[in-house]
Amino acid sequence: MATTWLRPNVLGDPRAEADAKMLNAAFLETSDYRTLIETSDRIIVVGRRGTGKSALTASLEKYWRHVNSVQVVKLAPEEQQIMGVRPLIQLFGSKFSWIRAGARLAWRYAFMMELVNCISHRYRFSTTEESDFLKHRADLWNRLGASVFDRYRKLLKEKIDTAQGPEERIAELPIALDLTKVENNLLTTCADSGELVVFLIDCLDEGYEPDDTGVGFVDGLVQAAIDIKTHFRGVRPIVFLRDNIFRAVEKLDPDYSRNIEGHVLRLHWDPELEVEHVTHLIEVLLSGGSPDSLVQQDFLILDDARAVLRALYSVGFVGVRDPVTGKFIFCHDGRAPDREFN
Ligand SMILES: Nc1ncnc2c1ncn2[C@@H]1O[C@H](COP(=O)(O)OP(=O)(O)O)[C@@H](O)[C@H]1O
Ligand SMILES: [Mg+2]
Repeated sequence: MATTWLRPNVLGDPRAEADAKMLNAAFLETSDYRTLIETSDRIIVVGRRGTGKSALTASLEKYWRHVNSVQVVKLAPEEQQIMGVRPLIQLFGSKFSWIRAGARLAWRYAFMMELVNCISHRYRFSTTEESDFLKHRADLWNRLGASVFDRYRKLLKEKIDTAQGPEERIAELPIALDLTKVENNLLTTCADSGELVVFLIDCLDEGYEPDDTGVGFVDGLVQAAIDIKTHFRGVRPIVFLRDNIFRAVEKLDPDYSRNIEGHVLRLHWDPELEVEHVTHLIEVLLSGGSPDSLVQQDFLILDDARAVLRALYSVGFVGVRDPVTGKFIFCHDGRAPDREFN
């Protein structure tokens, strides 16, 4: 007989990525979630591990995918993709400000190419003079790889001119990318369309190393996100950052207070919110909203440890499921306790 153990973590997996079914049923719409939907000035979202950055990414993606005039691009690198970018970023030299400058230029280009991918099907886009040039650039960009991080790495590999020193490599990059022309053409074709493109960028802690290369790469991305947001009214990047990475950016970037600070939303996850979260999950499970029909549990909220012991004693809490009858068989006989616990 096949044995099915009751899932021990009935309240969900500790990481949002592995918890998609539960999140779908039981995402708690926190005030941070509403802030991100209703306002547009906070584009850097900072929180410790487990404060719900990936849960927010998934839920915002789901929300915006259902809005007609919005397109969503989600970027979540895997460890090896960040590892692969590092040696190329190091070609910008040993100074933090150089690494940041090079990474930022390439990210600006990457954002704009992805923007072309999002808007190239629009009627207004195809009627503009600039569309052929931009489409051609986007075709070349798309051929660089299957995901944005792969394309980014290949772009650096192709466009960094290693014959020169680091400072000149940085100075040559926007010329090699035709950055100003791309930007101007895109501004013309994007103007006043009334549509929104949202970039959700999560998981930058995958493959992250806390050195100048790692921090400069993230800082370059953050700065480029701010650049894109400032230039293009219809673009809304949101970068989710773990607090340790954000602190490193804060420490190393001399322009932090001038450029970054005002765009930050710090996630809070206090005990009150935790209680609300658990209560909400229990409600969802009790109302049959559980995504996993195998899990059927009684929930008791008890106010002292002895009551918990009594309750556990009287109910079997480990069981097997008979797949033929669909019944659960518990290891305990279910008798009420015949003694007091002192
Ligand atoms: N608003 C929320 N509603 C329901 N579950 C949440 C919420 N925020 C986070 N969680 C859950 O908490 C856990 C940790 O969240 P996660 O998004 O992985 O954190 P982070 O990405 O910040 O490390 C996951 O199981 C996730 O599903
Ligand atoms: Mg996460």
